[in-house]
Amino acid sequence: MISRRRFLQSLGVGAAAGAALASAPFSLEAFEPSRHGQAVDAKSALGANRASAVLLNSNENAYGPLPSASKIMQQSLAWANHYPDFDYDALVLAIADSHKVKPHQVLTGCGSTEILRTSAVTFLGPGKKLVVASPTFEAIGEYARVTGAEVVKVPLTSGYAHDLDAMLAQAASAPSLIYICNPNNPTASLTPRKDLETFVAKLPANSYVLIDEAYHHFATESPEYVSFLEKPIDDRRVIVARTFSKIYGMAGMRLGYGVSAPETAQVMRRCQLQDNVNMVAAQSGLASLQDPEAMHSAARRNAADRQEFFSQAARRGLKPIPSYANFAMMDASHPATQVASYFKSKGILIGRRFPPMDNFVRISFGLPQQMQQFWKVWDGMKTT
Ligand SMILES: Cc1ncc(COP(=O)(O)O)c(C=O)c1O
Repeated sequence: MISRRRFLQSLGVGAAAGAALASAPFSLEAFEPSRHGQAVDAKSALGANRASAVLLNSNENAYGPLPSASKIMQQSLAWANHYPDFDYDALVLAIADSHKVKPHQVLTGCGSTEILRTSAVTFLGPGKKLVVASPTFEAIGEYARVTGAEVVKVPLTSGYAHDLDAMLAQAASAPSLIYICNPNNPTASLTPRKDLETFVAKLPANSYVLIDEAYHHFATESPEYVSFLEKPIDDRRVIVARTFSKIYGMAGMRLGYGVSAPETAQVMRRCQLQDNVNMVAAQSGLASLQDPEAMHSAARRNAADRQEFFSQAARRGLKPIPSYANFAMMDASHPATQVASYFKSKGILIGRRFPPMDNFVRISFGLPQQMQQFWKVWDGMKTT
């Protein structure tokens, strides 16, 4: 097994990558998306005791990491004095193996957020555009703005899919990075695979598409959904991002990855921090990948929790947007900010406002007893 530093050196940066990099901006200001504010909210609403909090606000996995990965997390601490080279290599090889790609097509990240940030930094800058849906997961927009790129928001269709033609029209006027979140956060909705294929075929030669499959494992039962990793298309402009934060329950470990054509990965790698994955994350990520049975069982459990959520909603005459994720969004008929602060006053955090869907709330699926609390508070709100 080659060590990480040698592995990186062996990849080098060729002439093509160097030319593409010449236009990459490096003047990043330090900032983070808004999750820190949520922690402050949680503390003020629920006291400093995190254990008492009902957190239905960040699409985490309420059940925790896979048991096999939890065990490795504990054991791996014994290696904390070492750099994570070996762990990292083993993880990259396992990711590559699981998607039948070469290791140098894999980019790891401090969460998939780092893959989003790396994509923005690599492909955007002044005179370029980030094209995103509205609403969608917003982090990449913040990173794009820092590069000096324009951020263009294209409303979702009436069926809550990405409006791919409108997004393409935006990309026609400037080199662009188009961000497709599928299933989409916060709507939990799908953009059909066949439409995405047509879209990629029409993508201007100077543009890239980042397909964020953070919620992949919760969508696989839909015939409309096919991952771009499981059924790849041979196009150097397509980057796929995945995370260990959702099905694998490792949000606090900060581990994600991207997969792309070798030349695209090579350019992006230059914009990343070296040693961006810590040893505990690498070892437990590897353990997670090696336990597909537990992963499938987590997906089945989510499907049951989702079914229960929709049954409870129907009982109350509510119609959430059909969900292909571990959360759902629904019309609350009241401003989301008011609903969220009502829930907060009762010790439950739900998703914040996602403009322009100002009356919709996003609820992550928690443990069954947490969801019972949720519905009790919901019913109280209706009668208050
Ligand atoms: C669509 C989407 N992409 C990326 C992320 C970031 O995940 P990570 O924890 O891997 O950085 C999230 C987190 O909620 C998300 O919803």
